[in-house]
Amino acid sequence: MNLERDLHKTFISSETPLFPANIDRETLKNRFAGFSEFMMMYSSAIKEVRTKFEVLNDDFSVAYKRNPIEMIKSRVKNPNSIMDKLERRNLPMTMESILENLNDVAGVRVICSFIDDIYMIADMFTSQDDVTLIEVKDYIKNPKPNGYRSYHIIVEVPVFFSNRKKNMRVEVQLRTIAMDFWASLEHKMRYKKDIDGAQVLEKELAECAEIIALTDLKMQKINQTISQLSKE
Ligand code: GTP
Ligand code: MG
Repeated sequence: MNLERDLHKTFISSETPLFPANIDRETLKNRFAGFSEFMMMYSSAIKEVRTKFEVLNDDFSVAYKRNPIEMIKSRVKNPNSIMDKLERRNLPMTMESILENLNDVAGVRVICSFIDDIYMIADMFTSQDDVTLIEVKDYIKNPKPNGYRSYHIIVEVPVFFSNRKKNMRVEVQLRTIAMDFWASLEHKMRYKKDIDGAQVLEKELAECAEIIALTDLKMQKINQTISQLSKE
């Protein structure tokens, strides 16, 4: 890592105080401790949710000799993005406000091979006793105008800590491998809206989304036929 270069980039010299001069050490220490505890709570919620999907996949591979889930990715939203979002929505910059207002601090992405597996896995997950479904956004049935497709759910899961139980919110995005491939490229485009030819690229991406959607359906049909044939 090139520290000098990073400092230049953010216009901070090595002498710039990172915290207000009037903040006392004890307060600072408590704030750091509070924040790490807070991030730990979200990463624990991610672990709970990941395990639930891993168990569903394992059970499936024993019972039906196939894995509906190809891959699981997860992340805790970084503090910078959390603050940006609070600012954009004019919300207070407190931990209480984050817990109450932001649904996507903990994010899990479940990548499946086939569209029908997405609905099946999502249904199995949200039917579990300790999973509370808060919100569903079906961008597969109702794609975004740019072509974005995925099945989004916000859930609450209980997490048991040393001296308390906390219901934590997690955003789960379920998509096919092809949808994930598309979303990664489209995401790259997001930060390049001002480049020449951006409109052409957006149009091409929208076309790719349609081709991918057709391919996903076709692959699913082929898979169903193969399964049917192997049963006969
Ligand atoms: P945000 O405030 O951006 O979280 O929007 P929202 O709360 O209305 O949620 P939405 O379900 O629309 O999107 C949540 C997440 O889905 C985003 O943070 C992205 O990870 C993903 N997503 C949504 N729309 C797009 C899109 O058009 N392109 C890509 N690449 N990802 C998207
Ligand atoms: Mg979001």
